[in-house]
Amino acid sequence: MKERIIIDCDPGQDDAINLLLALSSPDELDVIGITTVAGNVPLQLTERNARMMCDLAGRSDVPVFAGCSHPMVRPLKTAENVHGKTGIDGAELFEPRQPLESRHAVDFIIDTLLDADDAAITLVPTGPLTNIATAFHRNPSVIAKIKRIVLMGGAMREGGNTTPSAEFNIFVDPQAAGIVFSCGRPIIAMGLDVTHQVLATAGRIARIKALRNRAARATAGMLEFFSRHDSTKYGADGAPLHDPCTVALLLKPGLFSGKHCNIAIETQSPLTLGHTAVDFWGVSGRPKNADWIYAVDADGFYELLTGRLARFSDR
Ligand code: RIB
Ligand code: CA
Repeated sequence: MKERIIIDCDPGQDDAINLLLALSSPDELDVIGITTVAGNVPLQLTERNARMMCDLAGRSDVPVFAGCSHPMVRPLKTAENVHGKTGIDGAELFEPRQPLESRHAVDFIIDTLLDADDAAITLVPTGPLTNIATAFHRNPSVIAKIKRIVLMGGAMREGGNTTPSAEFNIFVDPQAAGIVFSCGRPIIAMGLDVTHQVLATAGRIARIKALRNRAARATAGMLEFFSRHDSTKYGADGAPLHDPCTVALLLKPGLFSGKHCNIAIETQSPLTLGHTAVDFWGVSGRPKNADWIYAVDADGFYELLTGRLARFSDR
């Protein structure tokens, strides 16, 4: 049975590669739609970047929607210093053929969930959670229609990448994250603790670069660009490939290890705003609301990604 998913994203090189991974896997995933949000770069770029990935994947059947252009309460913070001005620097850019749908992404999310059976749709957010939380706030009856939420966000042992306490997706819209993490549906949270284990090393990029198709070449170019910032920042041999951990878990859950625990979001403190308080040892007494993923078979992850990228062929 295919898993029916909506990917909500802010491409961003790693979001873009996550889209390619999902779009290369039609036997396992029914990508009902791609919704975009402001995050790494402003909305008019994230939606365009998502449409380019549909073209590269030859998937004109997957509709792309633009959503919220700023967080629910806070001002938008973008990350051009990491992703470049376009958001997907490193890829050879082109004018996408894939059209942008006229419906707002939040309306698409609400309409799709209302039309579905209970627990039928999986949400895969890999950017700030503004679209998802706005949908829940506007029509709470959609929440029961969610099978699970597999998101990239948060940090525990790794500390923050945007402040000492907070990871980017959660920091940009902490109010939205608070709404999503308290929605009551199953959540699988992929934070920096696991994404920092899947580094895009030179060898892994070379194997992707050796594939003979545009999507793989774009992926290699994006990884080379994306790696320069994080290698300098962390002194690591390549950038952590954050967002594709979400779709990889849908495709090969055995690659990952996690623990069911309480995760709460700091939405007030100026010092620790956007912090994910992961109660790994169960000391808070708060109800467990998410699976916190903390380990991954990194070689298996890149074997999966490379194998799926190899499926694309230039038409
Ligand atoms: O902190 C990493 C996350 O922030 C990733 O989703 C990346 O794309 C950015 O959105
Ligand atoms: Ca992202």
